[in-house]
Amino acid sequence: MSLPKACIFDLDGVIVDTVPAHYTAWKAMAEEVGVDFDEKENENLKGVSRFESMKHILSLGNIEKTDDEVNAYTERKNAIYVDIISSMTPADILPGVVEFIDKLKANNIAIAIGSASKNTPVILKCVGLDKVFKVIVDGNQITKSKPNPEVFLKGAEQLGFAPDECVVLEDAISGVKAAKAGGMKCIGVGHPEVLSEADIVVDDLTSVDIDFLKALYSNEELHQA
Ligand code: G6P
Ligand code: MG
Repeated sequence: MSLPKACIFDLDGVIVDTVPAHYTAWKAMAEEVGVDFDEKENENLKGVSRFESMKHILSLGNIEKTDDEVNAYTERKNAIYVDIISSMTPADILPGVVEFIDKLKANNIAIAIGSASKNTPVILKCVGLDKVFKVIVDGNQITKSKPNPEVFLKGAEQLGFAPDECVVLEDAISGVKAAKAGGMKCIGVGHPEVLSEADIVVDDLTSVDIDFLKALYSNEELHQA
């Protein structure tokens, strides 16, 4: 049985618990423009850039704004968001992440970040993971938002591996689509009914280890954890 050469991790909602902070900040913007916004709708913003996320909220209310106005909202959203996340510590790393990273390193499987977030460097520093990943591709280096596979393809390229030698870990519908569009296996982190396009879905990374990865990568039948 073979193993992948690399794992490419999404950041928000896979490595760190930033989803509530994003939601709080977007909800404030939605209220400002008078649009109903709930956690179910927030699923559609996961993995999506700041600009596209604000455009999505506006579209829910059929509201037209210029790009400059959209950018002004995203700046305010980001100020609220950064204020919340700046107090994050290693305690905000999600369950199983550190243990899984240790197992990957022990088995010579390279690790990378593939995130749409421009705040990736700040977040990794806050939680003490800024020196852990071989490659980091984030929102500062990409031009196309997930579900476009650009972020993961760049990650694979910078690692020096073919896309099908990499496994992606994702909590977003758009991120799962991006991984599959890039020709990668994808472990969904969250709910199977939401992440139905993933190869397998787990609640969190406590369910993932090297044998799990081997089975997934070898196309063996996997059972939901
Ligand atoms: C991630 C999150 C999205 C967020 C995007 C951009 O993909 O899942 O909710 O909008 O990054 O994040 P940023 O930190 O640059 O606003
Ligand atoms: Mg995410």
